[in-house]
This record gives sequence, C-alpha cells and structure tokens, in this order.
Amino acid sequence: MWLFVSIFSTVLIIFLLKYVFGSYGPNPFEKDCREPLKKRVYDKKEKNKVLKQGFLASKVPENLDAVVIGSGVGGLGLAVLLAKVGKKVLVLEQHSKAGGCCHTFSEKGFEFDVGIHYIGELQDHKPFRCMLDQMTNGQLEWEPLENPFDHVVLGPPENRRSYPIYSGRTRFPEELKKSFPGEEKAIDEYLRLAKKTGRGVWLLALLKLCPVFLAKFLIHTGLVKRLSLFFKMAPRSLTDVINGRTQNKDLRAVFSYIFGTYGNIPKDASFAMHSLLVTHYLNGAWYPKGGSSEIAYHMIPIIEKAGGAVLVRAPVNRILFNEAKEACGVSVLKGQEEVHVRAPVVVSDAGIFNTYEKLLPKELRAEPAIQEQLRMVKHGEGGLSIFMGLNGTKEELGLKANNYWIFPENNFDELMEDYMKADREEAAQKIPLLFAACPSAKDPTWEERAPGKSTLSLVTFAKYEWFEEWKDDKVTNRGPDYKQLKQAFIDSALEMVMDVFPKITRDKIEYVDAGTPITNTHYIGSPRGEIYGVDHGVARFSPELSATVRPQTPLKNLYLTGQDTFLCGFAGALAGALTCGSVLLSRNLHLDTIALAKRTKYFNNKLKEE
Ligand SMILES: Cc1cc2nc3c(=O)[nH]c(=O)nc-3n(C[C@H](O)[C@H](O)[C@H](O)COP(=O)(O)OP(=O)(O)OC[C@H]3O[C@@H](n4cnc5c(N)ncnc54)[C@H](O)[C@@H]3O)c2cc1C
Ligand SMILES: *[C@@H]1O[C@H](CO)[C@@H](O)[C@H](O)[C@H]1NC(C)=O
Repeated sequence: MWLFVSIFSTVLIIFLLKYVFGSYGPNPFEKDCREPLKKRVYDKKEKNKVLKQGFLASKVPENLDAVVIGSGVGGLGLAVLLAKVGKKVLVLEQHSKAGGCCHTFSEKGFEFDVGIHYIGELQDHKPFRCMLDQMTNGQLEWEPLENPFDHVVLGPPENRRSYPIYSGRTRFPEELKKSFPGEEKAIDEYLRLAKKTGRGVWLLALLKLCPVFLAKFLIHTGLVKRLSLFFKMAPRSLTDVINGRTQNKDLRAVFSYIFGTYGNIPKDASFAMHSLLVTHYLNGAWYPKGGSSEIAYHMIPIIEKAGGAVLVRAPVNRILFNEAKEACGVSVLKGQEEVHVRAPVVVSDAGIFNTYEKLLPKELRAEPAIQEQLRMVKHGEGGLSIFMGLNGTKEELGLKANNYWIFPENNFDELMEDYMKADREEAAQKIPLLFAACPSAKDPTWEERAPGKSTLSLVTFAKYEWFEEWKDDKVTNRGPDYKQLKQAFIDSALEMVMDVFPKITRDKIEYVDAGTPITNTHYIGSPRGEIYGVDHGVARFSPELSATVRPQTPLKNLYLTGQDTFLCGFAGALAGALTCGSVLLSRNLHLDTIALAKRTKYFNNKLKEE
C-alpha cells in the first residue's frame, strides 16, 4: 500500500512539475519589448484609425493562425500574447470600436469610460505591471489614485458616516483602526485571513491548466482544500466570515463594500473572491493615463505588426465546424450576408453564454459536456451606469482622483435584496449602492483635452427584467416610457450624489444619461446586461467548476479567454488571456510573468547604469 502511495505521489509531483513549470512553446515575454515613450496621441480621429477599423472581407489577413471573437482585454490580450511569438491573429468585434469594457465614448465633448475605474497591483516590479508593460510595448502609462482611494459612505444624509480606505499593507489597517477604535483585533484578523486566502489563487490557475484527470484527483482526494486556503474558504460566504469577526455594523459594511467590484451581495459572495479584491487594491489603485481607450490603442499595433488585424462592426453569428466537429473558423454578419473566416484555432472572449448558447450549432450545443458547463454557471447581475458631463474643473467641483461607495444603510444584504425584489419604479426610488468615480480627475491629460470640464461616472446594479421589454427597439430610440424609467434612476442617483458632492449643482450638469442592462447588451455584448460576466457567487468557486471551465472547451480547436475563463475585472480577464495563452503556447505564462518581473528589475537596473 505504502509503495503504491509513494509511487503515486511521485508520479503526481512529476506531473504537477511538468504542467506547472513546463515550458515547451515560445515565450512571449522572452525579451524586453519596452520602447521609449512615443509622442502621445489624444486626437480622437487619429485614435479611431486604430480603434475603429471596420470589417471588410478584403481586410482579413491570409493564413491566419487564430481568430478571436471579441476585443475586450481578454481577447486583445490573448491576441497580443500570440502576436509576440509571431502568430497572425484576427480579432473580431461586434461594436463599432475595439476594447469591450475598455472602450470609451464621447458625448457633447465629454469622453466617458465604460468599465475601467481603478486597477490594483500595478507597482513597478509586480509581475502584473511588467506583463502589461510588455503587452503595450511600454506605451501605456498608469496614474496612481489618491490615497485614500475609496470612501465608504454609509447612512442617510442626516446621519452620514464616511470611512476613508487607504492603500498600503500597514496603512490600510492602521487607518481603519483609527476609524474603529476597539476593533483592532477584528481588523488584523480580517486582513490576515484575506491575505492568506488570496495568496492561494495559484491553485485556481493550476486547476485550469493541469490535465483534467489530475484536477479530478486533487478535488476528489480533498487535496485542493489542503493545498491552499483559497478553496477552503471559497464555500464560505462573506457575511458568514465577517459576522464572526465583529459586531460593529459599520465595520462589517466597510469590510464588505468592495463586493461591488464583483457583484454578489455579502451573503452570496465567496470569501475567496472577496479576498482577491481586498488584496488587489492593498498596494494602491491606478488609472490608465489618457483614459481607458489607451489600453486597446496600444495593444492593437502589436497584433498588426505580426500580420494580424482588429476589425470592428464584425458580429460573429456562428462558429464554423468541420465534419469532425472541430472548430475551423467563424462566420461574420456583414449586413445580410455571411462572410466566412477560416482559422485553425478559434478563441472566444464573448463569454461562456454567448459562445455556447448563441454561436454553436444546435447539435453541438446539446452535447453533454457543453450542457454540463452551462448548468454550472449563471448570469451575473446587470449593471446601470450614469454618465455625467460637468461644467467646471475638478477644483471647482471638489472632485479628486478617487471613488465613493455610497450606501443608504449599512445592512447590505437586506438593502440589495429589497431592491432586487422590487418592481422597477419602486427600485428606482431605493438605489442600495451607488459607486461614484471621477475619471477626469484621475487622468492628468484631461485638462489639456477638455479644459474647464469634468466627468463623473455612477454605477449601480439593475435587473435585466426591468428593461427587457425594450431590448429589441433601436438603441437610440426606445420610446418615452424607457426614457422615463431611466430618468427615475438618474434622478434618485443624482440626489445621492449631490448630497455627497455639494459643489455639484444642477446648473453644472451639462450632460447626463444612463446606460441600462440592455445598453450593455448592445455595446459590450453581455447577454443579460451583466457587469462582470458569469456570476461570482459561492458556486463559481467550487473546485469542480474551477477545473471544468477552462480555456479548452469540449470542442476541438475552440478555446475560451477573458473574464468567464478566469475571473472578472481587468486583471481577471487578463488572467483569462494568460491562462488561454498558456494552453495555446504550451507553457505556463503565469510563471513567465513572474520570471519577467525578476528580469525587469535587472533591465531597469541596467538602464540606470547606462
Ligand atoms: C461599469 C463597469 C465598471 C467596471 N469597473 C472596473 C474597474 O474599475 N476595474 C476593473 O478591473 N474592472 C472593472 N470592470 C470589469 C472589467 O472591465 C471587465 O471584467 C473586463 O474588462 C472584461 O474583459 P473581457 O475581455 O472578458 O470582456 P469584454 O470587455 O466584455 O469583451 C467582450 C467583447 O466581446 C464582444 N462580443 C460579444 N459577442 C460577440 C460576437 N458575437 N461577435 C463579435 N464580438 C462579440 C463584445 O462586444 C465585447 O467587446 C467594470 C465593468 C463594468 C461593466
Ligand atoms: C460653464 O460655466 C461658465 C461659468 O462658470 C459659464 O460662463 C458657461 O457658459 C458655462 N458653460 C456651459 C456650456 O454651460
């Protein structure tokens, strides 16, 4: 028996080593590709030459190595990884510009971001930062937010409490302790548990990369829960973990406010996911200098340099399969006509629901392995965004490079449940959570681009069903009832905002409009207006799901990238790209980025010496 166990363990370790440390294919991070900063381009027309290249059959490069559906950072990121090792990749985007959640749009002279407010872990020598520097050839710059970067605002106007959230491994807990004297122990324990749990995320990557039988072995023997705290804490809800730490309701709220960045109320949220977000921002938060369109703008040329292309207004209506049920290309709708694009590898950044439910032929959709995956996942919560264009500088309006999380009470579970259960008119009157961020104050180039103006972005959750009846109407003309409902949400959100930002008065608002879940469906292709793709509740973190939903699909030559493959958020979607790239290039790119970070330190030192 012991012999069997030891032989088995040895074999297991060899396999783990092989798949974790194995590196067979070419390394996209082989050499330092950072170039000196080129002249900044902020002219919209100039940028659109890169971001808005319309689809034409004649623009499809020949002999493609891969085609990617969707130009979110999960799709573009993967294309860049492949391009860096010389592969010719075509990225197809249904919207009229590239970027997915990272695209921006302009109204009345105001430029608005869609889905990038703040990103963590971008200190110089962090693997994530080094990787992004390489993936944009050093052209994308990051601007740190203020410290405190978040403010948690709790309670009604007459009894409002505001808690600043600071970054910094020691500053974060220290400042919290100032706000909550007597709660030192709870704060230390909470942070310690979050750090320890978050550190175990490597096992999530491993489950998605190692062979299925090995993943099954790790799961069925219970090893996953022993090897790291991540999967041990994953089934525990945030409410459960936090309520056991403190009786202070405001502190409970401050511990959990960041659920807004993945979308599950504390009682459904997995502490594992929560721990990742807490640690993500622990060393600071950043914003892309020049706005979030800079991300796609600096990635696309790398794809093009390798012979690939990024084409927009290119809705893929189905994935093409050969008789052996292997993916062999995609069909793009050009007006009424189908244009077929052939490629030996098809990667989807369009999310698991779009990919499996809309793009597969019926008989493949019905395959048990596909159905099994679909049964494991559910749609995440829908989002409602309000975009405000303001007359005034950040100084005049009292805006800073930070975010506000505004809640009318501190009992988040009840607040959110009440709201989600309400009918739509009633819901508009009781917004439970309002995220308010000031993109223009975060961007040092803003003043030059739009002098005397500012923007404010507001985000909350909203049910798809509240807006569903208008989903088939034209996006810019959905009728007076839809407008009225949007206005009701806008009015109550403005009331909350103007209370927290007293310098913002009605006469300063030059532009305001709302995007609802059906707006998201139109522009970012989320099937039910989801903010963060597939739901991130406790079920998402079962080891079984973690191992089953992986870059390889049950169908040969079809792969998944982006937020549904790994986790949501800019970093999560890029981790999806990195995981998918690891599979396609047969090497562990997660480890390559860590090695890169070490070497970058070396590169930087060398630069200094010269
Ligand atoms: C309001 C909001 C605020 C956010 N704030 C932050 C933040 O502050 N920090 C952070 O880290 N993250 C934030 N996120 C989340 C983050 O932006 C996303 O998780 C991430 O960018 C998702 O990237 P992705 O590539 O997986 O998907 P997406 O960016 O959604 O890309 C998918 C793309 O596929 C396209 N597509 C779909 N179907 C088809 C088809 N059939 N044919 C062609 N193309 C198709 C879509 O149009 C879309 O462009 C926010 C998201 C939202 C919505
Ligand atoms: C913006 O405010 C200034 C004064 O503060 C005013 O002169 C100007 O007309 C305003 N612009 C718009 C477009 O409202």
